[in-house]
Amino acid sequence: MERRMDARQLKIAAAQAALEHVSDGMRLGIGTGSTANEFVRLLAEKVHDGFRVQGVPTSEQTARLCMELGVPLFSLDELPELDLTIDGADELDGNLNLIKGGGGALLREKIVASASTRMIVIADESKVVETLGRFPLPIEVMPFGLASTRLAVERLAATLGLSGEIVQRPDRDGPYLTDGGHFILDASFGRIPDAEALANGLAAIAGVVEHGLFLHMADAAIIATAAGVRMLTA
Ligand code: A5P
Repeated sequence: MERRMDARQLKIAAAQAALEHVSDGMRLGIGTGSTANEFVRLLAEKVHDGFRVQGVPTSEQTARLCMELGVPLFSLDELPELDLTIDGADELDGNLNLIKGGGGALLREKIVASASTRMIVIADESKVVETLGRFPLPIEVMPFGLASTRLAVERLAATLGLSGEIVQRPDRDGPYLTDGGHFILDASFGRIPDAEALANGLAAIAGVVEHGLFLHMADAAIIATAAGVRMLTA
C-alpha cells in the first residue's frame, strides 16, 4: 500500500535531497521558511558529525535556528561571495521563476541569492504552477510615503492589465515589519503573464525596496512529491 507523505515529510525529503549538493567547506546561503528550517535541522546533524560549512542566514529567524542548532554563521560582509544558497519558495514555474517573501524575508533572501554562484530551491509539488501569481506577491516598501507607493503600484498594475487587492501585511499588534524595518504589501494580482514587466516596473518605483519576483535566479529546484523527489534545472 502506498504510504501517504504529509506536508512536513515532503519538506524533509526536499531538504534531504538538497543536502547532497552541499560539499564540505562550502560558503552557504541559508534560506527562510518551514522548508528551509528542515534543511537547517538536517545540516546541523551533519555539522555535529564534523561536516564544515560557513552559513549566511537570510533572516533573523533562520539565524536564531542556526545558532540554536550549532550551524556556524557569518555575515554577508564577512563572506560577500557564496558558493550556494538553498531556499524555499512560495511558488515556482517551469522556468524556475519564483515568488518568494511569504515569510517576509524576501529582501535578504534576494541579496543572499544574488551573492551566490548557485541557488537551489526546495519545495513540495504544491508550489509548482504554470504561471506565477496564485500566491499574493509580497512587495517590500518603505514606511515613508506608503500611500503614494501603494498608488504607484496600483497604477503600474493597471498598465499591465493586472488587478486585485493590495493589502498591507499585518502582524499581531500592528503592521508587519521586515528584518530591515520595512512594510510589506501583498498583491493578489492572480495570474501574472508578464512577470518581467512587473518586476521591472516595481523596481522603478521609488518607495519599493524589493519585490518577491525572483526571475532567472534559481539554477535548480528540488521538488518533493509523494512518488519521490524530482529535480528541475534551468
Ligand atoms: C520567506 O520569506 C519565503 O520566501 C520562503 O522562502 C517561502 O515563504 C517558503 O516558505 P515555506 O517553506 O514555509 O513554504
